[in-house]
Amino acid sequence: MLSIVVLASGNGSNFQAIAEHAAQANFTVKALIANQDEAFALQRAKKLGIPAHCVAHHAFTDRKYFEQAIDQVISQYTPVDYIILAGFMRVLTADFIKKYDGRIINLHPSLLPKYKGLQTHAKALAAGEKLHGMTIHFVNENLDEGPIILQVPVKIAADDDVSSLMQKVQAKERQYYPQVISWLAQGRIRLEGTRVYFDDQLLTDRGIA
Ligand code: GAR
Repeated sequence: MLSIVVLASGNGSNFQAIAEHAAQANFTVKALIANQDEAFALQRAKKLGIPAHCVAHHAFTDRKYFEQAIDQVISQYTPVDYIILAGFMRVLTADFIKKYDGRIINLHPSLLPKYKGLQTHAKALAAGEKLHGMTIHFVNENLDEGPIILQVPVKIAADDDVSSLMQKVQAKERQYYPQVISWLAQGRIRLEGTRVYFDDQLLTDRGIA
C-alpha cells in the first residue's frame, strides 16, 4: 500500500477527490497539511477522518523553518512514499526538494511549459489560446518545470471566462490526479533521472499521451 501526505493551501477539492479515491485504490492518505488556518482543506480532512495539520507559513521568519515544521509533521507518518501537492501555493526550497528527491508530485493548472506560476487561466485567455489544461509532474528545483507525468487538455470556448475555464480544468484535475497516484501505487509510473516511464515506455516531454 502506497502512503502519501497531501499539502494544500485552500479549498482542497483535489485533496478530497484523492482521499475518496484512496478508499477503493491501493494507496492511503496519511495526513493533510495546510499552510493556513482558513484552508477549507482542513475541514474536509476532518470530515473524511484524515489527520489534519496546519503549519501556518506566516508564523515563520524563514522558509527553511516553515519547511522544517512541515517535515516534522511528515516524519510522524513514516514511511511516506510521496508528498502530493494539491493546490499548495508555497514555493519549496531546493533543500526540501532534494530531501524528497523524485517523491514530490505537483498539479499545475496549465499545459506546461506554458503559463507557469499564478493566474494561469487568465493568461491563457489573454493569449487567445484555443487549448488550455492541466499538468501533473514530478517536482524539481525549478518552479513548475519537473518531469511531466500527464497533461490533459481542455478546449477554450469563445464565451469562456476565468471562472468557467477554471471549472473545466478543475474537473479534469479531480478526475486524473487520483488516477495518477493510483498508477504510482501500482508501480506503473517510474522516474529515472529526468525520464518518466509509464508501463516501461519512455514518455515524451508531454507525459502520457
Ligand atoms: C487547482 O486548480 C490547482 O491546479 C491549483 O490550485 C487549485 C487548487 O484547487 N494549483 C496551483 O495553482 C499550483 N501552482 P483545490 O484547492 O480545490 O484542490
